[in-house]
Amino acid sequence: MGHLDPRYIELMDETCEMLRAVYQTENPLTFPVSATGMAGMECVVTNLMEPGDEAIVCVNGVFGTRMVDVMERCGVTVHRLETDWGKVFSEEDVADEIQRHPKAKVIGIVHAETSTGAHQPLEGISKIAHEEGIMLVVDAVTSLGGHPVKVDEWQIDAIYSGTQKCLSCPPGLSPVSFSPRAVEVIESRKTKPQSWYLDVTMLKDYYLGKSKRAYHHTAPVNMVYALHESLAIILEEGLEARFARHERQHRRLRAGLDELGIGYIPEHSLHTLNCVRIPDGADDAAVRASLLDTYNIEIGAGLGPFAGKAWRIGLMGHSATQANVDLLLAALVDCLE
Ligand SMILES: Cc1ncc(COP(=O)(O)O)c(C=O)c1O
Repeated sequence: MGHLDPRYIELMDETCEMLRAVYQTENPLTFPVSATGMAGMECVVTNLMEPGDEAIVCVNGVFGTRMVDVMERCGVTVHRLETDWGKVFSEEDVADEIQRHPKAKVIGIVHAETSTGAHQPLEGISKIAHEEGIMLVVDAVTSLGGHPVKVDEWQIDAIYSGTQKCLSCPPGLSPVSFSPRAVEVIESRKTKPQSWYLDVTMLKDYYLGKSKRAYHHTAPVNMVYALHESLAIILEEGLEARFARHERQHRRLRAGLDELGIGYIPEHSLHTLNCVRIPDGADDAAVRASLLDTYNIEIGAGLGPFAGKAWRIGLMGHSATQANVDLLLAALVDCLE
């Protein structure tokens, strides 16, 4: 199927429409960037920010740190608002930081910090940011499709995700969405975004062009087929039912781990990523290798300050089932013994 074939264009249009449903938004500029989640981050930052702009970026793990790096590469002066790994930011933290840096154009924050399992509440922070005329940029790589992500209700100005997490699709695309306000900001830029590939003013002629589509780059046709199918599966299940399933399986896992004396690190845990303390005396790498070799279950190692101290257990999309939770718990008992 050619990427300008009218039947493929129809498939792409349907894919963008389903992405709007999953992002709970009416934003016309909603489409899958042709690369993984990091490209979504770069796309949002590169288009919204110009050299000399200021931004506040909330850092409590690997991906907030990366957002700082991406912003700085765009010539942005970044004010890092930091808290400990595993913790989340309060509305007061953000309000105080805005008072310190009133010229900030955006606040960047990670909704689901995959490196720590922390689940960042967004609604209150968004309200504060908008009262101060600051745009909200959100990383939803590990939440979209597993936790509610209400782009319009929470007034998120730009957001990106990845296909391989709770959308249960192969890796390779990054769904993004820009609010009309963000589009206005992009259209009134003084400089061109330094990335040609990710410039949404050109990309929109392909993704949003009505009957006429301008060639920009060759769309990854087979990936879009995969995303189309995974979004159809999600909408068939229903968003609320899907979120409830993730929560149910998270609770089941938490109860089972509790019985084994294994506790969670973040106070405010994601349902989709369960970051737990490795029990005393357990050999981190040996247990993970044994889970993989014997049971075909892969769990993540701790990152940064959590290396050797934490395991990260994903319950994302298709994998968030009772059978998987029960198998993991039994397998963990066996491997720990
Ligand atoms: C929160 C978060 N942001 C960004 C990314 C980057 O996504 P990708 O690895 O698909 O480029 C990841 C990947 O795990 C992530 O978890």
